[in-house]
Amino acid sequence: MIIVREVAQLRQAIAERRQFGADGAKAEQGSAAIRPHTVGFVPTMGYLHEGHASLMQKAREMADTVVLSIFVNPIQFGPNEDLDSYPRDEARDLEVARREGVDIVFLPTVAEMYPQPTRTKIRVSALTDRLCGASRPGHFDGVTTVVAKLFNMVGPDLAFFGMKDAQQVAVLQQMVTDLNMNVTIVPCPIVREADGLALSSRNVYLSAEQREQALVLSQSLRKVREVSEDDVQNTFTIRQLYQMVETTITSSPLADIDYIEILTFPSLEPLLPEQRLSDVEEDIIVALAVKFGNTRLIDNIRIQKGEVLLHV
Ligand code: PAJ
Repeated sequence: MIIVREVAQLRQAIAERRQFGADGAKAEQGSAAIRPHTVGFVPTMGYLHEGHASLMQKAREMADTVVLSIFVNPIQFGPNEDLDSYPRDEARDLEVARREGVDIVFLPTVAEMYPQPTRTKIRVSALTDRLCGASRPGHFDGVTTVVAKLFNMVGPDLAFFGMKDAQQVAVLQQMVTDLNMNVTIVPCPIVREADGLALSSRNVYLSAEQREQALVLSQSLRKVREVSEDDVQNTFTIRQLYQMVETTITSSPLADIDYIEILTFPSLEPLLPEQRLSDVEEDIIVALAVKFGNTRLIDNIRIQKGEVLLHV
């Protein structure tokens, strides 16, 4: 596994893999036309867990070269957020990367990523107004800007993102389409603990009691799943669905709701409260952000159109 900290080294390492392949042998003349060497990219902020590992596994499966980046991106944190306390463990992260068969790890410093005051920002409109965009102003501008920079540095064919951050997937897909970026976004399923809690680097902040009560997030989403699969219940309206989720979450005294939203996915349009689940023409996402003390957790479930049984 190659570990690089500078953009120039990164470009060099990737160029060599593209030219000489995984085993260092120069690609046969013309063979590239038959099956081009693919580069898969997994951007992260480190403190890696099984959710991140699942992205690396998918990348390993689909690409010839797997590139992982670990960079806690300051421009996507708000002034009162956890940038300084964001958990970091480079040695452990490198072990995870090695175990998952990553080829190249990019570990830039802030100075390497932002050598001069940046005057260029990438901003996706509309999709970033709601959900986490409303609670965290500027957050998605920071995400799209750093991901665009990373895409320009790595030049990946495929880039892997978790549906844990479903809005991030929708926003990045919009950016890639709008700007004709030559990369395919591959969304990957949410990885959970055995008891249902979605894995997150921020879970380490939770006290034992908060950790226990945080289960209301996944419990409420499991109920959504049951309702959507039940041919009697899916005459439920959006309002009833909302109330069901809210009741489950407020059963935890420590839960401080930031938002509960039911939107179309990936267009993130609001739905009418009286609309029936089975009448919605698009995929639906139920997205939650709930604070336990200072720790803000997010989770969501996507109901694909085909999963809602049509009521008769
Ligand atoms: P980070 O929070 O480290 O997440 C990196 C990737 O791992 C994201 O695509 C995220 O959705 C995915 N991920 C996190 N928890 C997951 C889980 N439980 N199951 C499946 N995937 C999970 O997201 C970011 O970093 C940053 O915004 C980044 C894209 C790197 C830009 O700075």
